[in-house]
Amino acid sequence: MTTITICTTCRTGKDRETKLGTPAGEAFLQRAQSAAASEPGLSVRGVACLMGCEHGCNAAITATGKMTYVLGRFDGTNEDAEALAGYARLYAESDTGSVPYRQWPTGVKGHFVARVPPVD
Ligand code: FES
Repeated sequence: MTTITICTTCRTGKDRETKLGTPAGEAFLQRAQSAAASEPGLSVRGVACLMGCEHGCNAAITATGKMTYVLGRFDGTNEDAEALAGYARLYAESDTGSVPYRQWPTGVKGHFVARVPPVD
């Protein structure tokens, strides 16, 4: 199972300063759940804060035995959610979690923040 973890408390733009209203991460979670609903082997969950608050919206993609990728600088739009789910599907299909750059959905390019190798 591949898990997409969305930060539900991420804010974007001016909201990051004012901290008013519903965080963009809440909508990003719902949109990611919809985008991944038709993808077998993907689950989506929300958590409060991935500690990348200055470059939200943030998300992580992980699976047992695979490289974990953290992505950020999303606005939380439907297009962002579709790109993230599309990348997660390719990640799920790979043996190691490594997806060739030429296969990356355009919408994830420039959004990678970190990768974490699997534990032995
Ligand atoms: S609020 Fe989203 S990473 Fe901290």
